[in-house]
Amino acid sequence: MRILGIETSCDETAAAVVEGGTRIISNVVSSQVEIHRRYGGIVPEVASRQHMLSAIPIVEQALAEASARRTDLSAIAVTNGPGLAGSLMVGVNLAKALAFSWELPLIGINHLEAHIYSNWLARETPRFPLIALIVSGGHTELVLMKDHGELLRLGRTRDDAAGEAFDKVSRVLGLGYPGGPAIESASRLGTPGRRLPRAWLKGSDDFSFSGLKTAAARLAEELGISSSPDSGSLAADVAASFQEAVVDVLATKTVAAARRYKVEQILLAGGVAANTSLRETIASRSPVGVLLPDPALCTDNGAMVASCGHFHLLAGKVANWDLDVIPGMGLS
Ligand code: KG4
Ligand code: ZN
Repeated sequence: MRILGIETSCDETAAAVVEGGTRIISNVVSSQVEIHRRYGGIVPEVASRQHMLSAIPIVEQALAEASARRTDLSAIAVTNGPGLAGSLMVGVNLAKALAFSWELPLIGINHLEAHIYSNWLARETPRFPLIALIVSGGHTELVLMKDHGELLRLGRTRDDAAGEAFDKVSRVLGLGYPGGPAIESASRLGTPGRRLPRAWLKGSDDFSFSGLKTAAARLAEELGISSSPDSGSLAADVAASFQEAVVDVLATKTVAAARRYKVEQILLAGGVAANTSLRETIASRSPVGVLLPDPALCTDNGAMVASCGHFHLLAGKVANWDLDVIPGMGLS
């Protein structure tokens, strides 16, 4: 079974063809990062407009690279939430038009669930039950997954998402956008250990990163980082200390949940899962195997949507023509 997956929930226009839910035949991603860089963050209206320009060429390219015609496809899967409303609409409308004219089933996909499925595109197939940590620019969610379609959210961020905190601290330190990769490379040159708070929220699987973000910004100000052009090494120290604190909280709470629910494996997903320190720390502390998606599949892509769509189709979960976008869609 080959599924076309379409993803336009944020600032990547992406399409892919995946076979059997696990094998990538083609995977094309057009990032808008250079367009949004000059604003220091994503501008929703600019994003949807860019999707409108790129969506058809990207789908065309994904189909061409897979040498796939409509008769080779079993369904079209598309992200319909959560995300930016205008961006989601572009992908959903295109998927509807293609499914209607090609007489194929249409499948609406939750972007967070799709992120988890980036792990089905790796060599080792995940085993249930598992704990998934989804860490992206908009979300930080700890999920217990007992089977395909059986997801229980254990915890989420109460304020900033982990990726959002990386982006904001990077801006304060003058390291650029997107902040995650910038903080990660600055951290390699810095020394961690500056005192920064960690919100443990004992007794809860929730997270909180806004206090840490504010403390990092205050420390940067105290050290005169934004005002001094020679503050590169101090900025690297703050970046390394901030990254250390985020990784410590994410790893500690994820591993604790894995022990509590006696799971088979831990999966990481989402843009922040590309972070080497997070990957290494969780892998070293976990009592069970840790699956890490290819870093290129951690950020938004169509392959994870197509993979998730495969398992929805097997379960008979197909959408109608009234499929709507749900910007605030949660994980159930
Ligand atoms: O999953 P994603 O591509 O988009 C959303 O659904 O949000 O995640 C983007 C987020 C951004 O906040 C970016 O700074 C962060 O992932 N990110 C990283 C790294 N690469 C991307 N954060 C930490 N370390 C990285 N290497
Ligand atoms: Zn995402």
